[in-house]
Amino acid sequence: MENRNFFLLLCFSLLPSLIFGTRNVYIVRVDNDLKPSIFPSLKAWYTSTLHSLSATSTTTFDQNPNANPSDNSGLLHVFRTVFHGFSASLTAPEADALRTTPGVLSVIWDQPRQLHTTRTPQFLGLVSGSTSKPNNLISSANAGAGIVVAVLDTGIDPTHRSFSAAGQPSPPSKWKGSCQVGPSFPATSCNNKLVGARFFATGFKAGGTSKNGSTDILSPYDTNGHGTHTASTIAGCPADGASFLGFAAGVATGIAPRAHVAVYKICWSGGCFESDILAAFDSAVEDGADIISLSVGGGPTPYHLDSTSIGAFSAFNYHGVLVSASSGNDGPGAMTATNIAPWITTVGASTIDRRFPADVKLGDGTVLSGASLYSGKDPSVDKWLPLVYAGNLSSLRLGFRSSAPFCMRGTLDPAAARGKVVLCERGVVKRAEKGLAVKEAGGVGMIISNQFLDGEGVVPDAHLLPAVDIGFSAGKKAHEYIHTTASPTVRLSFHGTQIEVKPAPVVASFSGRGPSAQSAFIIKPDIIAPGVGILAAWTNSSSPTELLPDERRTEFNILSGTSMSCPHVSGISALLKATHPDWSPAALRSAIMTTAYVNDNLGRDLLDESSGNRSVEWAHGSGHVDPERAADPGLVYELSTDDYINFLCSSNYTELDIRTITRTAVNCSQKTSKPWDLNYPSISVMMNQPVPTSSGNFEIVVHRTLTSVRDANSTYMASMKEPSGVHMVIVPDKLVFSRKGEKQQFVVKVSANAGRLQAGTSRTEFGYISWTDGERRVRSPVAFTWHQSF
Ligand SMILES: *[C@@H]1O[C@H](CO)[C@@H](O)[C@H](O)[C@H]1NC(C)=O
Ligand SMILES: *[C@@H]1O[C@H](CO)[C@@H](O)[C@H](O)[C@H]1NC(C)=O
Ligand SMILES: *[C@@H]1O[C@H](CO)[C@@H](O)[C@H](O)[C@H]1NC(C)=O
Ligand SMILES: *[C@@H]1O[C@H](CO)[C@@H](O)[C@H](O)[C@H]1NC(C)=O
Ligand SMILES: *[C@@H]1O[C@H](CO)[C@@H](O)[C@H](O)[C@H]1NC(C)=O
Ligand SMILES: *[C@@H]1O[C@H](CO)[C@@H](O)[C@H](O)[C@H]1NC(C)=O
Ligand SMILES: *[C@@H]1O[C@H](CO)[C@@H](O)[C@H](O)[C@H]1NC(C)=O
Repeated sequence: MENRNFFLLLCFSLLPSLIFGTRNVYIVRVDNDLKPSIFPSLKAWYTSTLHSLSATSTTTFDQNPNANPSDNSGLLHVFRTVFHGFSASLTAPEADALRTTPGVLSVIWDQPRQLHTTRTPQFLGLVSGSTSKPNNLISSANAGAGIVVAVLDTGIDPTHRSFSAAGQPSPPSKWKGSCQVGPSFPATSCNNKLVGARFFATGFKAGGTSKNGSTDILSPYDTNGHGTHTASTIAGCPADGASFLGFAAGVATGIAPRAHVAVYKICWSGGCFESDILAAFDSAVEDGADIISLSVGGGPTPYHLDSTSIGAFSAFNYHGVLVSASSGNDGPGAMTATNIAPWITTVGASTIDRRFPADVKLGDGTVLSGASLYSGKDPSVDKWLPLVYAGNLSSLRLGFRSSAPFCMRGTLDPAAARGKVVLCERGVVKRAEKGLAVKEAGGVGMIISNQFLDGEGVVPDAHLLPAVDIGFSAGKKAHEYIHTTASPTVRLSFHGTQIEVKPAPVVASFSGRGPSAQSAFIIKPDIIAPGVGILAAWTNSSSPTELLPDERRTEFNILSGTSMSCPHVSGISALLKATHPDWSPAALRSAIMTTAYVNDNLGRDLLDESSGNRSVEWAHGSGHVDPERAADPGLVYELSTDDYINFLCSSNYTELDIRTITRTAVNCSQKTSKPWDLNYPSISVMMNQPVPTSSGNFEIVVHRTLTSVRDANSTYMASMKEPSGVHMVIVPDKLVFSRKGEKQQFVVKVSANAGRLQAGTSRTEFGYISWTDGERRVRSPVAFTWHQSF
């Protein structure tokens, strides 16, 4: 019923575009201090502002069918907490008129964002912190009890046993969240594990449409699976006998298995809308969440135009809430990291020491190794079969020719594919969907080959037919073999789950990478965490491939993406917050970053899956998260709101733009620092050529302040590794602390020779600085970039 109403609303939303020109949802930021006193409430003022607009345009807001039917104000959302203002459905001229209205600070188009598994829309798996390996952090944190993690995602399947309340203490008394009931989501859905659930569909209803064939249920219920997966990764209680179709069998448990989950459903089949994300930030902060986890992102837009960054600023600075977010799946190219504001903990993805190996044996005896989650008992497996390249199978229709190599549905000629194993290229369509295309064309098996940019990273998929994903160099061999052999043949074999894989971790090819598209002076991502082949809970109303013809239902699913790595850091943050309730979000993030490790389980430098070479900081940030060491960092880099304002001023954001983010008036003429002086736990400096000094040497001084988090007398000594071609001096090189909360300052003098670069190019070298008291190590990567502008 509810569901039908929803689609009805979507149909109506087409009307105004036809009659009055295209409407879009806009987020309007307002200076609430300017509210004239004649208006009894902000809402009344906003409504009046909107009505005055419509008087001068061709429509009135009363006719807007997108508006909440219970009032005719035209307002969609009123934001109160992390943001001041409202959202409304407007035509472009109306939006322009609003921009010049007194009291209005900014008007931003409400863009849809995507879940971070979209590039690798496969089904990966997670075995999180194991209960058989008790560790100190888990016990000192009481497994996260008393900490509420807000999960902004596709909702949750509350019937999953990962969200059972057994043994779960009550939420903290400050918790004010509520349980919004609706279809498939009765009041009994919430309990001491799932302490809050809401949904935010206003932006979506006004600005989006449901994907063909998808069911959007207007309640916090998760019809997709992604939100159930991320929530259980954070705080799922232990579930015995878990596996995905037999893969990765064992106990499934969240990272903080006694933490509380509050679900804010912001993603629908047609996307996740900025205004809904902002409204969810508002609610999560008002409700009293301690951590916000967001595995959703769009492009790396300027901070004041990005609702995630605006919402996260208030959460971090005014409400003490750490925001952990995914760096996106658009790697391995440069500047692909998203959710990069300096007050967000940006999480990239890496492999774990588990994989799902499968082999491709070519007729000439060559064996290529890959990965697969294919689990069927298909009789065609493990025998010699004819092999063909999808690009040679195109059905003759011209428009489809270039799609065939990617195995899009309907592009493969069944007469040519029947009974064969088909080699498809990775990209363009979801990998599992390629399997469906081959199956529909009568193929009996499939190989998916990485393209050059995908490198050697393979993501295991729960294919509907026997299929293996292989890396770029293996793919080249398969291509060569097919194109030089008269009757190529192949044999696929599947080897289940392998653990203790070395090397691990390895930075995932798809993980969004720096440098930051918004600031050269902040290394992003901040940290990497497990994000490949992660097993976690799944909804029982969606198949593990999310493909409609896939009728399988599984209790768990194996997924890969930074969507999976972000909830690991959210769960770790919950444990740290439970252990150290007095730590600020800046202290929590500093602890996570400065204790990260940069060596794999062979003791070598972390590798990058995309190249097979050593990974750099643009890929792994400060390194791989190390929860036990993060619990006892010794020293942290604290950050205040003023530090961030100074950073934004020195980054040349205008006072108006900064006000959009901070909600307070700022005066940049008082700025005191350079952007590299933000007291961030990592350091990035850039030399813009031509060199500004006469000597040909370039020097900058980087300021940092450390705060002790231990009540102890301790002496820390500095050490460092200089980036190649760079000279560094740390002054002083010894810091003495005698109590918790004590602060000490130091500077890093960084100098380098100009060198020569071609116009429009840059080059970065990496090093680090580190403080140690003999037991603890507080490490910060240093990036030095030479940049030659055009
Ligand atoms: C939606 O899917 C159905 C069934 O697959 C198809 O007939 C219809 O044309 C699709 N509609 C759109 C708008 O793509
Ligand atoms: C198959 O495709 C490859 C690459 O597109 C091409 O070089 C080759 O000639 C094709 N073979 C046949 C038999 O069409
Ligand atoms: C999901 O599965 C559980 C347990 O089998 C069942 O209680 C619940 O009703 C199912 N939910 C849906 C939406 O099918
Ligand atoms: C990996 O390193 C080798 C040796 O330094 C280099 O030749 C190669 O270009 C690198 N590969 C990539 C993809 O960067
Ligand atoms: C800000 O603008 C000043 C003056 O134009 C310029 O020197 C400086 O490099 C800019 N800073 C940044 C971070 O872009
Ligand atoms: C900003 O601060 C400067 C220096 O303190 C002062 O001269 C100026 O009037 C201030 N500007 C505003 C808009 O308050
Ligand atoms: C640090 O040393 C001083 C002087 O020896 C002593 O008075 C103080 O109690 C010590 N502080 C701690 C936390 O041990």
